[in-house]
Amino acid sequence: MIVFLVLPRVKRGKTMLQKRLLLQENYDKIINQFENAVRKYPMSQTQEQIKRRRTFAIISHPDAGKTTLTEKLLLYGGAIQLAGSVKGKATARHAVSDWMELEKQRGISITSSVMQFEYEGYCINILDTPGHQDFSEDTYRTLMAADSAVMVIDAAKGIEPQTRKLFKICAMRHIPIFTFINKLDREARSPYDLMEELENEFGIGTYPMNWPIGCGQDFKGVYDREKREILAFTEFHRGQNRIKAVECTLEDGDKLDELIGAKLRAVLTDDIELLDGAGYEFDIDEVRAGRLSPVFFGSALNNFGVEPFLESFLRMTMPPLPRISGDEIIDPFDERFSAFVFKIQANMNKAHRDRIAFMRICSGKFVREKEYFHVQGGKALRLAQPQQLMAQERAVIDEAYAGDIIGVFDPGIFSIGDTICEKGMDARFEGIPTFAPEHFAGVERVDTMKRKQFEKGIMQIAQEGAIQIFHEPFTGVEEVIVGVVGVLQFEVLEYRLKTEYGVDIRRRPMPYEVVRWVDNDDLDIRSLNLTSDTKWVQDFRGNNLLLFTSEWCVNWALQKNEGLVLREFNRE
Ligand code: G4P
Repeated sequence: MIVFLVLPRVKRGKTMLQKRLLLQENYDKIINQFENAVRKYPMSQTQEQIKRRRTFAIISHPDAGKTTLTEKLLLYGGAIQLAGSVKGKATARHAVSDWMELEKQRGISITSSVMQFEYEGYCINILDTPGHQDFSEDTYRTLMAADSAVMVIDAAKGIEPQTRKLFKICAMRHIPIFTFINKLDREARSPYDLMEELENEFGIGTYPMNWPIGCGQDFKGVYDREKREILAFTEFHRGQNRIKAVECTLEDGDKLDELIGAKLRAVLTDDIELLDGAGYEFDIDEVRAGRLSPVFFGSALNNFGVEPFLESFLRMTMPPLPRISGDEIIDPFDERFSAFVFKIQANMNKAHRDRIAFMRICSGKFVREKEYFHVQGGKALRLAQPQQLMAQERAVIDEAYAGDIIGVFDPGIFSIGDTICEKGMDARFEGIPTFAPEHFAGVERVDTMKRKQFEKGIMQIAQEGAIQIFHEPFTGVEEVIVGVVGVLQFEVLEYRLKTEYGVDIRRRPMPYEVVRWVDNDDLDIRSLNLTSDTKWVQDFRGNNLLLFTSEWCVNWALQKNEGLVLREFNRE
C-alpha cells in the first residue's frame, strides 16, 4: 500500500523551522487524510501488523494510581498472572529495569520502561514514565515516543504538579489525551469540579464517557453514556478481573432503585440530563487532535472501570501516527524501516560498560541482522542484540514494527534524536527538544590532576541526555554548572563519574529554579536589565540561557527588556 498524503505547499525559501511549523499547523488535516487512506487500501502483512499497534504513555503525579492501572491493563492482556507484580516496591518491576547498581541500592526504578502486550487483536505498547525523585528528562523524552497519553488523576486531589508538567509536553505534541479519574471508591471531589479544573488549567475540552454514581462509602458504580447502561460496583465484584455491566436504563426505575437507591437515582438522572443537554459534543477528530479529552471514572485498585476504559481507548486511538522528517511526512505504513533514538541508558551491564539506545520505530518493519543506515553517523550498521520488553522480560527479537520500541546495544555512536533507517530513505526525524532543568549545581573535580577524565565523563553523560551542562562565558570560572530535571540525576552523575571515570566531584547546590533559552539572535546579553541574582550561561552548543531564582525574576526580565524572547525548551 502506498498512502499518498497531500502535503501543504511549502514555499521555497522558507527556513526549515518555518516549514516544520507549517507542517505542524496542518497536522490535523494530514492525520485525517492518513486515516481515510488507512481505511481504504488493502494491506500487506507488515501493514496489518502496524495497524494493530497502539503505543501510549501513562502520565500522572506519584500515587495517583499509574502503577495500579498499568498492572490491571497488563492483566487483561494476560501479560502478567498476578496483581502486584508491576508494583514499584515489589520485585517484579525491578526485574524490568533493574540495570543500574544505583537502582538496586535505592530500590527504585530510574529509567522509563516499556511493556508490550496483546489484547483482542491489538498489540499494545505502554511506555512507563518514572515519577517520584526518579523523575528526569527521560520522563519527558519518553513522551516523544508515544502516540497518545493516558492521564491518571486522583479523584480527591485533581491536577497535581507532575501531571501539569507532563501534560504540557503532551499538549506541545498535540497527542490525544485520555483521562482516567481514579479512586472513586474513596471520598472524591465533585466530578463537575474535576472536569472544570481540567478545562480551565489545561485549556482543553473534556467529555465524560461515563459518570460516577456516588463516591467513597457510597460509590455505586458508573453510568456508561454511550451504551446507556450501569456498571455496578458491589462488594461482590470487588477485586474481580472482569465485572459484567448490569444493563439498566435510566427509565428502569425499580431496577435502578434496587441498584443504587432512590436518592442517587435522582442525582444521576439530573446529572445525565444536564450532561446530555449541555457541555461538549463528542467529536473524535477533536480527540485525535488533542483538543478534547475523553474522561473515564473508575477505581484501578478495584479493577473497576478499567476494561471498559481499555476498550473505548483502543477504539478511539489510531495506529502509529505519521512523523515529521525535515519537510516531509513519514508514513508509518511505508514498508521501509525508520526509527529514532529517544533514550540512551548507560551501564546496564556493569561488566561491559555498555549503553542501550532505545528507539521508537516510526515506519515499516525492523528485521534483525539486516543492514540499516545511521543518518547522523553517515554509516551503515547492523543493530546488535535488539531487545524488546514483554511485560517483565527482556527478549531478543527478530522483528518489530512501526509503533514498537526496541533497545539495541550502542557502542557509543548514537545520540538522543538520531535516526536509523533503510538505506536510501534519508529520513531525519524532528529533533527531541531539550527540556528546561529545574535543579542546578556547580560541579568540580576533587583531584585537580583528573581534568581530562572529568571533562570526558561529564561531556559523555551530558551527550547521553542524563544531565545538561553550562558554563559562564568570559569569566574564566572552571566550575561546570549542571542542570537536571530530577534531583536524583545528581546522584547518578556522581556515581557514574566515580565508577566509570574514576573521578570524585564536589557539588555546590545553586539557588536557581527556572531556566530560559534566549531566542534573540543578535542581542548583547550583558546589556540586559536583570535582577542581580540572574545568571547568564551558555550550553555546550553556545546557546545563551538565563538562570533565574523564580518566575518573578523571569517576568521582571521580560518587562524591563523590550523585545527579549525567552523559551522554555530548546528545539535544536
Ligand atoms: P503511582 O504509580 O501513580 O505512584 O500510584 P500507585 O499505583 O502506586 O498507587 C498509589 C497508592 O494508591 C497505592 O497505595 C495504591 O494501592 C492506591 N490506589 C491505586 N488505585 C486506587 C484506587 O482506585 N482506590 C484506592 N482506594 N486506592 C488506590 P499504597 O498504600 O501506597 O500502596 P500499596 O500498599 O497498596 O501497595
